[in-house]
Amino acid sequence: MRFTVAIDGPAAAGKGTISRALAARFGFAHLDTGLLYRAVGALVAEGADPVAAARGLSAADLARADLRSLAAGEAASKVAVMPEVRAALVDFQRRFARGQGGAVLDGRDIGTVICPEAEVKLFVTASASVRAHRRWLEVGGDEAEVLAQVIARDRRDSERATAPMRPAGDAVVIDTSEMGIDEAVEHAAAVIRQKLPQAG
Ligand code: C5P
Repeated sequence: MRFTVAIDGPAAAGKGTISRALAARFGFAHLDTGLLYRAVGALVAEGADPVAAARGLSAADLARADLRSLAAGEAASKVAVMPEVRAALVDFQRRFARGQGGAVLDGRDIGTVICPEAEVKLFVTASASVRAHRRWLEVGGDEAEVLAQVIARDRRDSERATAPMRPAGDAVVIDTSEMGIDEAVEHAAAVIRQKLPQAG
């Protein structure tokens, strides 16, 4: 069976947690596509050429321990504006999406550019202040500064010329501002079940 669930949305809206929960529930493979951009950003910070880094990404690059930091997210969103970097990562994501057994991919442009044919498209979002608060609970520091970073990253991701972050026309929008994660997962699972009647 081939079945693609495309999950897009801004940082800290809950799409990673929802994606992992859905993959586990339905037995689908999961790809956090942000990791690809984070790995490229980390290599570029060490002096690599962005396009060469994107073309040559290895499993070891994706397993680096330093990819989850705020700085890595910033570096990722800077290389993510480069059309050649994005182009170098397309095939890998599309192959993953159409692998046997079903796949969940989360990112910014999965439903719009990578997998416009995905069987299910979700756009998981929340207000900037709620997302900044969640991030701040994880990373600490100055909450106002975390909010400023969230807003700057949203702007860079949604205003870039190539593959800007936006919901696909046929995406189901899930706003988690006032929703617990369990409720959000149930909501998303219900959308999948509608398209996949025989699954959990
Ligand atoms: O989702 P995550 O916070 O790990 O993504 C880091 C950055 O990578 C995003 O801010 C965005 O600039 C970029 N990204 C992207 N397209 C994707 C996934 C991530 O441009 N599909």
